Amino acid sequence: MRTYRVAIVGTGGIAGVHAENLARTNGRAEIVAACDVDQARLEAFSERYSIIGRYTDLERLLAEAKPDIVHLCTPPMLHINQAITCLEAGAHVLSEKPPALSLEDFDGIQSAKAVSGAQFACVFQHRFGDAAQAARKLIGGGEFGRALVARCDTLWYRPDSYFDLPWRGTWAAEGGGPTMGHGIHQFDLLLHLLGPWQEVTALAARQARKTSTEDLSAALVRFENGAVATVVNSLLSPRETSDIRIDCEHATIELSHLYGYSTDNWTVTAAPGSEESVADAWASQSLERGSGHAAQFLAMYDALDEGTNSSGPLPVSLEDSRDTLEFATAIYASAFTGSPVRRGEIVPGHDFYGGMDGNGLGTRVLAESALASASLAEAAPASI
Ligand SMILES: NC(=O)c1ccc[n+]([C@@H]2O[C@H](COP(=O)([O-])OP(=O)(O)OC[C@H]3O[C@@H](n4cnc5c(N)ncnc54)[C@H](O)[C@@H]3O)[C@@H](O)[C@H]2O)c1
Repeated sequence: MRTYRVAIVGTGGIAGVHAENLARTNGRAEIVAACDVDQARLEAFSERYSIIGRYTDLERLLAEAKPDIVHLCTPPMLHINQAITCLEAGAHVLSEKPPALSLEDFDGIQSAKAVSGAQFACVFQHRFGDAAQAARKLIGGGEFGRALVARCDTLWYRPDSYFDLPWRGTWAAEGGGPTMGHGIHQFDLLLHLLGPWQEVTALAARQARKTSTEDLSAALVRFENGAVATVVNSLLSPRETSDIRIDCEHATIELSHLYGYSTDNWTVTAAPGSEESVADAWASQSLERGSGHAAQFLAMYDALDEGTNSSGPLPVSLEDSRDTLEFATAIYASAFTGSPVRRGEIVPGHDFYGGMDGNGLGTRVLAESALASASLAEAAPASI
């Protein structure tokens, strides 16, 4: 096993989670450099984690520190160009979510990868807990049976003050609201568990927050395996929870957590007559490790150690990351056009290929929905 040279770009909130989780990888990685345009933040972060290479310029970092892997912990609108810069310098990229603000931007990563030989992966850490891996193995198999119906809820609460930062809640910096920025973790896991999606019908609204994006979206999804799911992404929900429930022919499997899970957050309920086989199937799985960044880092090092860095994908691969981004795009496209969207439909020339706002359509639809809610509130008697 080799020790990978890691650089962290962007030393704000999530960068600390990366540094702490890197420390839990049993010496399989060392942080050789950090980069931030905010010099004071860079220094404080580097001091805290004893990082020697300190840079305010990414290209200089790549040339001098020569990292094997660059972790992009910058705001969403920067991921794509920074990823391309790293790939073209021959460094693997592990980008925080969302991987890009549009499918068009994302497809730019694919051409950069082709010339550099380095690989792109996106952080979707919920895929990597043992229970998620076990559920993925069992859903659709003999003991749990075919997946029939599912729900996936990201019901979080972000008060008005959360949006005081000028880039929050904007199409230009975040690419969207809770669909792109918050629920994406949970529905990425749903896609991981259920396989390819086929068609999405969705609504999006701005119910209460003063943002330019949605603060709520709700989708109905059909999967290629026949399962039907609902997906809700909200920033308006005082009792916060992140839930997935999948009903299969012989078992219901449920996850209920907030920002990360242990095996205790999962429950399995057998259908009448299947109690023994379902319990045995679940008990036979390895169920120790919870979700988290360290679990994904270790899976990435395993893939690199196995020599797949020139032929196979790093988890979460370019293709899987694109699939999740396409799903988010389909929610927006369906919500703002009022029509179902099929997988593969959003291609160059489609209004939503270049951005989740669909060339301004989203802004117009949300403004209308916000106006409608405001006039309803005005019309309501004070006692209600
Ligand atoms: N995986 C998760 O669970 C999770 C959780 C929170 C945030 N995130 C994602 O992590 C990313 C960062 O979020 P955050 O909350 O840490 O943001 P943040 O604003 O706290 O940190 C971003 C840092 O990037 C720096 N920066 C800005 N421009 C830069 C540039 N050109 N070069 C280098 N550094 C630059 C900023 O100065 C800041 O220090 C976002 O994409 C967010 O969605 C992921």
